[in-house]
This record gives sequence, structure tokens and C-alpha cells, in this order.
Amino acid sequence: MNKINIKVENLYYKYTDNYEALKGINFFLREGESVGIVGSNGAGKSTLLLQLIGILLPTKGNIFINDNIINKKNLHIIRKDIGFVFQNPEDQLFTTSVYDDVAFGPRNYKLDKDEVDHRVINSLKKVGIEDLKDKAPYRLSGGQKNLAAIATAISMNPSILIMDEPTSALDPRARRRLINLLNEFNYTKIIATHDLDMVLDTCERTIILKNGKIVADGLTKDILMDEKLMDLCELELPLSIQGIKKYSL
Ligand SMILES: Nc1ncnc2c1ncn2[C@@H]1O[C@H](COP(=O)(O)OP(=O)(O)O)[C@@H](O)[C@H]1O
Ligand SMILES: [Mg+2]
Repeated sequence: MNKINIKVENLYYKYTDNYEALKGINFFLREGESVGIVGSNGAGKSTLLLQLIGILLPTKGNIFINDNIINKKNLHIIRKDIGFVFQNPEDQLFTTSVYDDVAFGPRNYKLDKDEVDHRVINSLKKVGIEDLKDKAPYRLSGGQKNLAAIATAISMNPSILIMDEPTSALDPRARRRLINLLNEFNYTKIIATHDLDMVLDTCERTIILKNGKIVADGLTKDILMDEKLMDLCELELPLSIQGIKKYSL
């Protein structure tokens, strides 16, 4: 695995209908940092994440991965290091079996058959769905699809994980397993989510987006406990914190 840092510089993005979804985003992620990207619906979280793997390219501004600017020419090299989980798992699962979907990335990078098999089984085990390997992805439940999508990302042995709302359909046990998996992964992580308790458990740093701009960037424990700030951003305190507040009244 490689050490990866990311620099986002004055990033703007306008969709084809002229809607400006990102308006001057700046941040730097050090190698190994874990960052939660939070913000209400439509804040720009998914748009930002899609820029980081070059599915969308900036209208203005630049993104650098270890000093390599993201552009059309180097996407293949950049994506090799990135495990990406889409908000909608159906964007990620497109073959006829879970096995083939998880094997797709490793096969694409021409790994030999045994290594592909090892990676697939290992990734499915890590998310707890090895018994579903022969099933057609479209027959899975919502949460199972999310887990299969996460397995496709980790099968690449990525140096960075970028996940868009990975826990939204998970049951409590699968969610806890994912949190443990994320905490075992020592490399750079970026997680967009409404699950603020997961952010507390997995990310030292939090960035809040609102209307395409960063309104806060700092330590998770400071940001997510700031009731005024959370209210301003149309968010609520994490449930675990709400519980503490209630008991301390
Ligand atoms: N394909 C698109 N065309 C036009 N506007 C879009 C498109 N996708 C998203 N948007 C708009 O961009 C804004 C940010 O969307 P998104 O990044 O999906 O937000 P989030 O992930 O934070 O909920 C929203 O107002 C949304 O309506
Ligand atoms: Mg989104």
C-alpha cells in the first residue's frame, strides 16, 4: 500500500443544468487521516466524493493526490489506490454474481486467479457475506447490496477508502462490523454520512458542508458536540451525545 495525501484547491463544480453544487472547497488530508464529511441533504457530499475519483472533474480548481493532479489522463493510475463505495450500490454492482462483482477490480488489474480468489473471499468474509458469493446482486436486500459494494472496494487492497453513506441500510451488527473494519484500516479514509455516531467512532476529523461550502473543519469531538453549529448546519447532535446530555440534566 502507498501513503496517500489529498489536496483540494479552490474547487468549484457546476452540473450541466448550471446548478453550482461546490463553491470554493479547500482542504488538505494528511496520509492516514480519517475524515467524516457531513451535511444535510443536497449539501454537496456526493458531488465532492465523485470529484476525488475523477468521475466528475472540477469546473474550476484542482485536486491533487500525492501531488498528481487529477485529470482524464491519469485516472487509471489514481483509481488503483482508491477503494470507492458509491451512495447507491447499484452503481457499483453490475455483473451476475456477487463473486464476479468483487473480483472485477482485481481481475481488471490482471492479478492471477488464485490471488483474485483469495482477495474476493477475504473481502466477503470481512463484511460478513461470504455465503452470498454466488447470489445475483439484484436479488440482495438493500443492506446486503451495501456490504457487497464495500467488499468490491476493499478487494483492491486500497491505500485510501472513500465511502458515500455506507451505513444507511445496514443493520446494527453489520454497521458495527463496518466500524471495526474501518478502525482496523490504518490508511486515509473519507466517509460521507448522516451517521454521526459512526463518525465519532471512526473519524478524528470532520468537515461540514452546507450549500456547497465548507462551514467547519476540525476535530470531530469539537465539531459534532457544538450544538449551535450543528443547528446552523441543519444537523443534530450524534445520538450518543444526546443521551449524555439527557442524563446530565
Ligand atoms: N446530476 C445532477 N444535476 C444537477 N444537479 C445535481 C445533480 N446531482 C446533484 N445535484 C444537486 O447538487 C447538490 C448537491 O448534491 P449531492 O452532492 O448529491 O448532495 P449530498 O450528497 O450532500 O446529499 C444538490 O442540490 C443536488 O440537487
Ligand atoms: Mg449524497
